[in-house]
This record gives sequence, structure tokens and C-alpha cells, in this order.
Amino acid sequence: MIVDNQIRSFSARLVCWQKQAGRHDLPWQVRDPYRVWLSEIMLQQTQVATVLDYYPRFLQTFPQVGALAEADEDAVLALWQGLGYYSRARNLHKAARQVMNEFGGVFPQQRTQLETLCGVGRSTAAAIAAFCFDARESILDGNVKRVLCRVFALDGDPSNKAFTDKLWTLAEQLLPENNIDMPAYTQGLMDLGATVCRRSKPLCDICPQAMSCLARAQHKQDELPRKKSAVPVKVLPLFWLVLHNSEGAVWLQKRPNKGIWGGLWCVPCFDSFQATLIAAAEWELVAADLSEDAEISHRLTHRQLLITPFRAQVILPRPNIPEQQGCWVLPQALADYGLPQPLKAYLQQQGQLF
Ligand code: ADE
Repeated sequence: MIVDNQIRSFSARLVCWQKQAGRHDLPWQVRDPYRVWLSEIMLQQTQVATVLDYYPRFLQTFPQVGALAEADEDAVLALWQGLGYYSRARNLHKAARQVMNEFGGVFPQQRTQLETLCGVGRSTAAAIAAFCFDARESILDGNVKRVLCRVFALDGDPSNKAFTDKLWTLAEQLLPENNIDMPAYTQGLMDLGATVCRRSKPLCDICPQAMSCLARAQHKQDELPRKKSAVPVKVLPLFWLVLHNSEGAVWLQKRPNKGIWGGLWCVPCFDSFQATLIAAAEWELVAADLSEDAEISHRLTHRQLLITPFRAQVILPRPNIPEQQGCWVLPQALADYGLPQPLKAYLQQQGQLF
């Protein structure tokens, strides 16, 4: 049972704490919706420390939304290389074009309008609206869910839709009354979740909500939020056909937008050795022409990739390969292509990338 009083005092404590003890020097703590939007997308699945590295470089190349909208998708993906979850970069590019075409180059101010942008969900839209326009909109990401489950001792599965709906309702009840407090409140929720109400070893001694935290009173900080039963990751064997021509260029193909490494450039990639051999035959290569390199193990969120690279030298001109999309890329040009992280590491190890 949630106590009314506990709801009423939550935001005041948080705003006060954020002003005194929260983070104030992050480069995206500005009022420009383009900059805030970019940071929120980058921060969706990536640590602050990593984003601090990518964010200024991205802004240097694309200082305004118009520059991003005019760019080639490949240029955007190349800058995103290493951040992972590449659909974020493709959506970012599409959303920039939406801002230009549908909103005359000016970001909308309402959360519901922001939500119409590609890749912008309710929580991200709320963060932009709150930070830039003082809108009374609540965020609810994984960190905020953890804070709410603990402070109000809510014992549900945060990945469950009905339970998440309850958390949204609670999040809205907790909002400060005054719009002016929205930036500090929203940043306070993020700061609290990231630095104090951490998943493990929360720092309850310095938490502004400690006196009213029901999980703390019940010694349940480690149990909440309830974890969903762990699903074992699937192992996915992959085979790479790494073709070099006589000039030292490598053959790359743009991957389809759907699936792993969507939109990135990669060497031909197969799910069986047999499929690799069939593709190699199109280059008039047989099994004996292929050199097997050490297996690469690469963890994605829900999969463990086991990649076996097969290297081969091809003799130009390229035999009669039909419509297959691809191009030869010289080592010095590889930096212009968005490559999957394990391919970049592999080519680096082979002395292909500088
Ligand atoms: N994570 C998501 N948004 C953030 C922000 N604005 N500051 C710090 N971490 C964040």
C-alpha cells in the first residue's frame, strides 16, 4: 500500500538532492533538444563514460539536426561504430529527416509529438520534453523502475506489461507540481538510479529517499526489483569469408537493416561451413584455398557468436558473380565504413586497419 505522504514528498527530496549532490557537468545538460535527443539515444544502452567519448565527435561532424539529415546513412553508422545497437543510428538519421520534413527543422515540444520520431519511445520523449521545455512528463527507464520498485517496495516483474503500466501511473503521480523543477527532477531520477540506488550494493546511507524507502525498511534492497528468470543465451556459429584482392583490399557487403549488425559493412557471413564453400565457389575458390583463422567469440545481448573466419586471396577480375552487392575496400579506407566490432578487431589484428 503506497502512502500518500510518501508520494507527495518524493519529488521535493529528489529535486533538492539533485541540486546539491547530482551531476551538473555532463555535456548534454543543455536546453537544445537536438543535443539532448542525441545524448538520450546514445545513453539508451551505453554507459555515460563511453558516450562522453562519442558524443562530442558526433556533434563536431553533425552540429545541427540539418547536417545529420543531409548526411549519408553510412557516414552516421561510421561515427556510431563501436557503440552497438546500430538500429539506434539508423533511426537517429531517419528522425533527423523527420524533424526537417515534418517539423520544419524545429523539434516539437510535446512529448506525444516527440514520440512520433523514429527511435524515440515514451521515456526518451519525456526526457527531452522535461529537460528542454520543462514539461511535466515522467521518464521510466530500467534505472527508474529499480528506484520505484525499491522506494515503494513493489514486488512485480518490471518486464511485465501490466506491472510496467502500474509503474507509469506511479511515476506520473510522483512528478513535481511546478514545471520549473522538471529538469532537476528528471536528472535527479537518473542520477539516483545510476549512482546511489545501484543494482548491487546500493548506497542507502547517502540516499535522499532512505527515510521513506520501504525496501530499506524491509531489508529487501537486494530482492527488488524482482528479477525475471534468466534465459540462457543462444550460441550462434557464424562463418566469415574474408576475401582479399591482389591490392590488399577486402571485400565488404552492406548488411540488411534487419538482424545482427544491421546496415553495417561486413565480409560475407554465413551460418554454415557449407554455405561458405558455396559462396567461395562463386569466386572459383575451393576448400583448399581457404585459410582458417582462430575462432572469435563475441557476446551480443541475447546471443553468443562463435565466428570462424576463412581467409582467401582472389584473382581479379572477379568471376561472374551476379547482382551480389559489395565492394573492395583498401585498408586506408576502412575507417569510412561502419564495421561490426569483432570484424574491426579481427582486421586490426591482421594488420589491416590503422
Ligand atoms: N542516462 C540517460 N539519460 C541520461 C542523462 N541525461 N544523464 C545521465 N545519464 C543518462
